[in-house]
Amino acid sequence: MPFRWNPELGPEDVTPEAMFQERRRFLRAAAVATAGAVLGWDPDAVQAEGGLAGVRKGAVTLDEKLTPVREVTSYGNFYELGTGKEDPAKLADRLVTYPWSVRIDGEVEQPGVVSLEDLLKPHPLEERVYRMRCVEGWSMVIPWIGFPLGDLLKRFVPTPKGRYVAFETLHDPQRLPGQAREVLRWPYREGLRLDEAMHPLTILAVGLYDRVLPNQNGVPLRLVVPWKYGFKSIKSIVRISLTEQQPVTSWNQHAPDEYGFFANVNPEVPHPRWEQRQERRIGEWLRRDTLPFNGYGEQVAGLYAGMDLTRFF
Ligand code: MTE
Repeated sequence: MPFRWNPELGPEDVTPEAMFQERRRFLRAAAVATAGAVLGWDPDAVQAEGGLAGVRKGAVTLDEKLTPVREVTSYGNFYELGTGKEDPAKLADRLVTYPWSVRIDGEVEQPGVVSLEDLLKPHPLEERVYRMRCVEGWSMVIPWIGFPLGDLLKRFVPTPKGRYVAFETLHDPQRLPGQAREVLRWPYREGLRLDEAMHPLTILAVGLYDRVLPNQNGVPLRLVVPWKYGFKSIKSIVRISLTEQQPVTSWNQHAPDEYGFFANVNPEVPHPRWEQRQERRIGEWLRRDTLPFNGYGEQVAGLYAGMDLTRFF
């Protein structure tokens, strides 16, 4: 399995050449900004300062060809910016993100509304290359920049009643004009079981490649859960709540027969409209077989021991 999990990775570890060059350029620029002293979280200002400061190489990487940044940023789903694959990039400027705050509430000892800067301060950013698989049958390999969601949740101290984590996207039709149409019930919502949320593979991302998240990819903060279908990776988060009951999620609410709560990549569970056994890696001609848990089974299958994953899909 071309997948490595090794916290001892050194900076000289294998990196595709183009990216290596790019990273050198980026690290030089990042060194100019004092580590951590990013001027607030105005994405343009952060980028102008030379990018995200102090990003370290992550404990997880993947020896697969990266999907070109052009594809990652121009082909995607963000229904609040239109339902066409290329709409989000076109309407991206509407999503003004500065200032931005996130409400952390529900079953936590220390609920509150936190500015994005304060939310990020104690969390060192790292780069992680993940395989992503969309339920619609396409996939990409993306170098994310982020930090484990579990580190953040620990900071707010879940109470013993907190069994799930619910996420919400910004609800503001001015900044997310697609919300003027009831394609889904807004705001976009997603959820994880607490053990899934605490799993070290689950991250909150603030960047991809060497840049702050482009608006269309979920600026300023989005979830990334690589063993689940892409719709779980909720974008532009403003609220994270710990709950006792399984939370409502947008796609499950919209079409429960098609989109389950768990949404683990599973070639054995057919989707009525999309191919699940194979996938088209963006940029490739031949289809690939889709792997259970998107290839992360060794790390996460244990979370579902004893569960019938054809019923809990
Ligand atoms: N988050 C919000 N708020 N709105 C969306 O429409 N689409 C999801 C997910 N997160 C979506 C969302 C789906 S279906 C996919 S495949 C991924 O975002 C795509 O993310 P990407 O464009 O960054 O690859």
